[in-house]
Amino acid sequence: MRTHPARREVSIITPDPASMTSLPNATTPARIALCRKTDVADGTAIRVAHGDLALAVYNVGGEFFVTDDACTHGPGSLSEGILEDDVIECNFHGGQFNVRTGEVVGPPCMIPVKTYKVVLDGDSVTIEF
Ligand code: FES
Repeated sequence: MRTHPARREVSIITPDPASMTSLPNATTPARIALCRKTDVADGTAIRVAHGDLALAVYNVGGEFFVTDDACTHGPGSLSEGILEDDVIECNFHGGQFNVRTGEVVGPPCMIPVKTYKVVLDGDSVTIEF
């Protein structure tokens, strides 16, 4: 029987203005700093709340990926699931997603999970819009 890793969560209550870049030029992407690389151990995921976003941040062998935390199938929290290589298994019904692409790789899920572009900025894991 597999056990779930201890739940870890980082909540960002007040955005750090320095972590957000939103310039008047519409072609300049905005970034949100989510956590430090060291907050996410290799082979694990953490949940990060930022405003209305609830995200799962994954460390896959030193590469970082971000998806919505909510499973597209039901009430499962992907950050509480089991991460094996780049596949997260939902803690609720065992559905699986590729964290690189968001694609479904195991039933009962049918709808891909949203992914975010990750940009590493020093020790910070950020997402870019
Ligand atoms: S809630 Fe995630 S697989 Fe059902």
